[in-house]
Amino acid sequence: MKAIVCTKYGPPDVLQLKEVEKPTPKDDEALVKVHAASVNAADFEILRGTWSARFGGPLRPMYKIPGSDIAGRVEVVGRNVKQFQPGDEIWGDLSYPHGFGTFAEYVCVPENALRLKPANMTFEEAAAVPSAAVVALQNLRCAGPSSPSLFLSDEGQIQPGQKVLINGAGGGVGTFAVQIAKYFGAEVTGVDSTKKLDMLRSIGADHVIDYTHEDFTKSGQHYDLILDVVANRSIFNYKRALSPRGIFVMVRGSLVAIFQALFLGPLISITGSKKMGCVMWKPNQKEDLIFLKELFEADKVVPVIDRCYPLSKVAEALRYLEEGHALGKVVITVEHNNKT
Ligand SMILES: NC(=O)c1ccc[n+]([C@@H]2O[C@H](COP(=O)([O-])OP(=O)(O)OC[C@H]3O[C@@H](n4cnc5c(N)ncnc54)[C@H](OP(=O)(O)O)[C@@H]3O)[C@@H](O)[C@H]2O)c1
Repeated sequence: MKAIVCTKYGPPDVLQLKEVEKPTPKDDEALVKVHAASVNAADFEILRGTWSARFGGPLRPMYKIPGSDIAGRVEVVGRNVKQFQPGDEIWGDLSYPHGFGTFAEYVCVPENALRLKPANMTFEEAAAVPSAAVVALQNLRCAGPSSPSLFLSDEGQIQPGQKVLINGAGGGVGTFAVQIAKYFGAEVTGVDSTKKLDMLRSIGADHVIDYTHEDFTKSGQHYDLILDVVANRSIFNYKRALSPRGIFVMVRGSLVAIFQALFLGPLISITGSKKMGCVMWKPNQKEDLIFLKELFEADKVVPVIDRCYPLSKVAEALRYLEEGHALGKVVITVEHNNKT
């Protein structure tokens, strides 16, 4: 089968389209024919060997075939697989610990990581969702009671009328965060670069801010929840922009911002009324994907897909995303003929 293979850290050019052996499922796995995958910022962060990627693979990537989001069809099941059968259409996120490997024609998936895809979505639409939308959903739920731990709880829920600001709203995570926050009745402000603002309005953002012209932490406005996917400010700047019981949650950011969110955030959270920090990411959660499946089937949320690339052009897709051009998601279509 054809697959994108990565044997060293570096820019997207290190990826190679190769002919590799088609995998055979173990007893508790299914062989899935991949119809679509999608690229995430996390893919190029792993590829470039950021400090977090090097925990798993100090010298070279831990997984030879990258790619975490998947939409496809079960082709063969191992003898202990009970809940799925050949022909089932699935979606999911095969991030650690599920083995990655979705930039390929086939991948083996443990039964406990298989999730049924929404019936009304194409494979391309479905592949755009699992990773980014689950991250958005889990981070929007950080309204639970604060505790003196490293991480914020993800057991709360947005209340109608709350003022929510999404920083980096025009990307993969952000476009889902805007729509899910709107679904819960929030008043949503989306922050991103100029070219993404019309799209943000079109998916429901009540207000938009162009970060190239305005710093929302200096505007005098206050928010009940700030969700930041690109945190690059001091935690104290964010604190200033929160309402008295406001919450700041950081999905990803600079090393300084991560350090502050993890170590100063819990201190701020237990000594005052504002809460600041990170939510522990739990990829591919069954309940989250069931909830999202219902939202998509009811047309309450739609994936924003900028463009699709064939499997052979994964490197180009990653470059496009990394350069900041993408409005929402970039999808990989896997054709099962000579045109991969
Ligand atoms: N997607 C996932 O599945 C996933 C899972 C776990 C963790 N994460 C983490 O979440 C982060 C974001 O992921 P993503 O997929 O949403 O990335 P993305 O698609 O690249 O989106 C990031 C967005 O932030 C905007 N941006 C860049 N600089 C900004 C600034 N200074 N202020 C405001 N907006 C700014 C970008 O727009 P411009 O380039 O036009 O400025 C882009 O629209 C990544 O670091 C990733 O590791 C993502």
